[in-house]
Amino acid sequence: MDTKLGNVNILAIETSCDETCASVVRDGREVLSNIVASQIDLHKIYGGVVPEIASRKHIQTISIIIEEAMDEANMKFADLDAIAVTCGPGLVGALLVGVSAAKGLSYGLDLPLIGVNHIEGHICANYIEYKDLEPPFLSLVVSGGHSHIIMVEDYGVYRLIGQTRDDAAGEAFDKVARVLGLGYPGGPIIDKISAKGDPYWVEYPHGSIEGHPYDFSFSGLKTAVINHLHTMEQRGEAFKVEDVAASFQRAVVDVLAERTILAVKKLQVDKITLAGGVSANSKLRHEFKKVCNKEGLKLYYPPLNLCTDNAAMIGSAAYYNYINDKVADLTLNAYPNLTIV
Ligand SMILES: Nc1ncnc2c1ncn2[C@@H]1O[C@H](COP(=O)(O)OP(=O)(O)OP(=O)(O)O)[C@@H](O)[C@H]1O
Ligand SMILES: [Mg+2]
Repeated sequence: MDTKLGNVNILAIETSCDETCASVVRDGREVLSNIVASQIDLHKIYGGVVPEIASRKHIQTISIIIEEAMDEANMKFADLDAIAVTCGPGLVGALLVGVSAAKGLSYGLDLPLIGVNHIEGHICANYIEYKDLEPPFLSLVVSGGHSHIIMVEDYGVYRLIGQTRDDAAGEAFDKVARVLGLGYPGGPIIDKISAKGDPYWVEYPHGSIEGHPYDFSFSGLKTAVINHLHTMEQRGEAFKVEDVAASFQRAVVDVLAERTILAVKKLQVDKITLAGGVSANSKLRHEFKKVCNKEGLKLYYPPLNLCTDNAAMIGSAAYYNYINDKVADLTLNAYPNLTIV
């Protein structure tokens, strides 16, 4: 890395799903502003994100959010060194709003344009919280659309170790919460009510894939919970929603912890970072703390506001692209299925 570079100010934009976000980040680690406009209230009544509504709301909000981010950072456009934007993965219409705004700014201000992978962004949220954190480390990325175990070899150098074969962890939380009538998004509600439930009330399946010890499968777990609920209802058996939630949550956390620890031992690294919306889960953090203490591993996870979608994490990832000359041009597009490796 070129240590001569200093005071690189990047305006980052994130619109991959249902949050309109802008942030100014200096040198990849210092957040000067971080504005997040959540659309959750708009989508809640439908029980999940409606792509068309998300895109329209991004269009209405994006300019205001960018202005707010610049104001809060006490910056003028002339103080910026680059414009960064999430270019995938995500909802194509939603991504296009951010990409178009970033291209307009890059062209108008004659600044480099940096396209950032959203999953890379989630991982980089840890660089903001831990100023000394450097690769290599193993990262567990658990979000609404992804469940990946990734080896971070270096800045921007990733190796996929394991991934979900079907539902993502966050998706499983959201689907089970819906069946339990708890609303959207399900993760935070299940996390909260599980504290009042018995995690050992029932043993739900752990879903393993033969020959692939680091992969996950959450679809069977979700179906097991749904079938269990139907059976109890048909039999007229009483149950506590809190017990179902706590038992489900334990199954997810156990699987994530077991397989990540297996991978860390195999790869012989001593640092684990958690990333993505599900890394906000209190049981997940607790379990990882316990096992990392026992195994002598260092554990890192972002503060709650950097676990779910935000543009600060995009600004952090963008900095490492910028100093390695990984810049885009105006042909940059939205890539809904972009992968990290
Ligand atoms: N405390 C929590 N416990 C469990 N899950 C949580 C918690 N807080 C948020 N989540 C889950 O995190 C997900 C949202 O995370 P995030 O914003 O990273 O996902 P996304 O951006 O929609 O998907 P992706 O990052 O894969 O594109 C939702 O599924 C939500 O239920
Ligand atoms: Mg996300």
